[in-house]
Amino acid sequence: LDDPAADPFVVAQQAADRIAELTGVARHDLALTLGSGWGKAAEIIGETTHTIPATEVPGFSKPALEGHVGTLRSVLLPNGKRALVIGARTHYYENHGVRRVVHSVRTAAATGAKTMILTNGAGGIKSHWKPGTPVLISDHINLTADSPLEGATFIDLTDLYSTRLRELARSISPELDEGVYCQFRGPHYETPAEVQMAKTIGGHIVGMSTALEAIAARQSGMEVLGMSLITNLAAGIQTTPLSHEEVIEAGREAEPVISKLLADIVAAI
Ligand code: 6GU
Repeated sequence: LDDPAADPFVVAQQAADRIAELTGVARHDLALTLGSGWGKAAEIIGETTHTIPATEVPGFSKPALEGHVGTLRSVLLPNGKRALVIGARTHYYENHGVRRVVHSVRTAAATGAKTMILTNGAGGIKSHWKPGTPVLISDHINLTADSPLEGATFIDLTDLYSTRLRELARSISPELDEGVYCQFRGPHYETPAEVQMAKTIGGHIVGMSTALEAIAARQSGMEVLGMSLITNLAAGIQTTPLSHEEVIEAGREAEPVISKLLADIVAAI
């Protein structure tokens, strides 16, 4: 993937072939990327039949100095469908390039997945959101100034976050709120002024993932469902300083509830 001459879709197909070889599962129906606070969903959506270290799959083994790359799981759902659960997200701020950021999404598409569920832990701009609130992503603003698309690939992003899947999610949890996700590069949190800018331009959620992944998912023809766990309010919206520990702790507390919610949504897809 680091070789500019390599075709990232060929590498994604190699990754999918390797997953099929290691699991004996020829195709997956849907895929989930589990971000901060959502990890427990992997255990309750169905039966994990295979857990694969991401290092065994082409394109996931990252350059040196990267400690933990995570795992991929093949999960058999109660309805007989197969889910690929991606616990190996590469963030844009890791500086391995946007190809690596979206490789898991392209691999999911190459395994046959028609639906991509992207989850994350993020900061809230709507002050009434309490930490631990799950929200649907209705649209995004990509503030990375980058794109996973290479060359003259002009794709439409209308309804990127599927209205159909958002309605389905709301049929399970009618009180689910939604908002526009702003992807910042990170890894620092935003300044209060940047949060005000995000609010002014129409943002409600600030995070460091998902938008680039959603674009790649659309390019690969998948239907996208995006959900954020609000782990804290964004800088200046909450008056206390942000801390990574606070984010992790909010995720831990909300995990059982939001994982159950996600499992119910997955069962209905
Ligand atoms: Cl406040 N900002 C960003 N970019 N990501 C976050 C966050 C804030 N809180 C959790 N993740």
